[in-house]
Amino acid sequence: MSTQRIYTLPTDQTEWKIHGSSEVVFNWEYDQFRDNLLTLYSKGKQRQWDSAVRIDWSQDVDPENPMELDDTYLAIYGSPIWDRMNDREKVEVRRHAQAWQISQFLHGEQGALICAAKIVETVPDVDSKFYAATQVMDEARHVETYARYLHDKLELAYPVAEPLKLLLIDIVSDSRWDFTYLGMQVLIEGLALAAFGLIRDLAQNPLASAINAYVMQDEARHVAFGRLALKEFYPQITQAERDEREDFVIQASYLMRDRFRGEQVWQRLGLPEDDCAEYVDNSALMQEFRKMLFTRIVPTIKDIGLWGEKVRRAYAEMGVIAYADADPSALSADDERFAEELDARRHQVAETIAAADEVSR
Ligand SMILES: [Fe+2]
Ligand SMILES: [Fe+2]
Repeated sequence: MSTQRIYTLPTDQTEWKIHGSSEVVFNWEYDQFRDNLLTLYSKGKQRQWDSAVRIDWSQDVDPENPMELDDTYLAIYGSPIWDRMNDREKVEVRRHAQAWQISQFLHGEQGALICAAKIVETVPDVDSKFYAATQVMDEARHVETYARYLHDKLELAYPVAEPLKLLLIDIVSDSRWDFTYLGMQVLIEGLALAAFGLIRDLAQNPLASAINAYVMQDEARHVAFGRLALKEFYPQITQAERDEREDFVIQASYLMRDRFRGEQVWQRLGLPEDDCAEYVDNSALMQEFRKMLFTRIVPTIKDIGLWGEKVRRAYAEMGVIAYADADPSALSADDERFAEELDARRHQVAETIAAADEVSR
C-alpha cells in the first residue's frame, strides 16, 4: 500500500536526489582486523532480528494518543493556544505531533541506511566495511519498523523536516569518508538516540516503548562504531582539518537545536505559526527538552577529540557541556541491557500463558 495514503504532502513534491561525489575504495588486504572492530562485527551479525517476529504488532493503540504520552511533553502544552482548544482539537495535536516525530525518525533512518552503504564504499579498511555492512541491514530493519508503525498504527506521515534535510544533504554530498561518520553516526544518530530514549522511557504504550528499545539496541553499536573509527583517525589530521570538523559540529548542533521544532505540524493544523514558534522557543520545559537531545552527542564529541575551545564554548552556551562527563560506552551498555530485559519479560509472559493453557486443557 502506498505511503501517499497517509502523507500530509504528495511525495512528488517532496522527493529529492543528491549528486554526491565520493571516492570508492577497494582494499585487497583481507587479514588485518582490529580486535575492537571484529568484536563489534560479531555482535552485529549475532544480534540481527526480525521486526515481524520480535515486535508484537497485534497490540492496539489508542487513536487519540497512540504512544500514550503525557500531554505535558507536547511542545505547545500550557500555551494560550493549547488552553483555548477543545478536546477534539487536542487529539489532533497529539496525533500530528507524534506522527511528525516518528516520520522524522523514519526519514533519518533512511539517511542512516544510505550513509551506512556509503561507508561500505568509501572507508579504506576491510574490517570497517564488514561492520558497516551489518549496519546497512540494521538500518533497513529500522526503516521497515518505523514505516510499518506509521502505516498500521498512526496512519499519518509527514515529509522530512527542512533542518534534517539540510543536514542529510551536507553529509551525503561530502566526499570525505569521516564526514559521513561524524554527521550520521555521531550527530544525527546521537540526537536520535536521545529522542528514541525519551519515548522508550516515557511512552505508556508498550508497542511504542518496545520499538524504540529494540532500535536503540542496534544504535548503541552504530554510535560505538563511529566513535572507534574517528577516535583512531582524528589524532592523525592537521589542526586546519580539525578546525573544519569542529566548525561543522558547531553549525550542525545549532541547526538541530534551534530549527528542529515541528513547524510543519502547526502549519498543517492551521495554528498561528509565529505564536507557536515563540512559545516553543521560550517555554522552560522545551528548553530543557532541547538540551536533553544532546546527552549522547556531547560525550561522544569529547571522546573523539573534537574538543577544541570553540566547541566547548558553543556547548557551554547551549547549556549542555555537563553531558561531557557521561561515559559513552556505559550509556550504550545500558541501551543494550534495556532491550535484553524487555525480551526476557516477553518470554516470561509467553511461558506463563503457555503454562496456563496447559493447565486449562
Ligand atoms: Fe537506525
Ligand atoms: Fe543507526
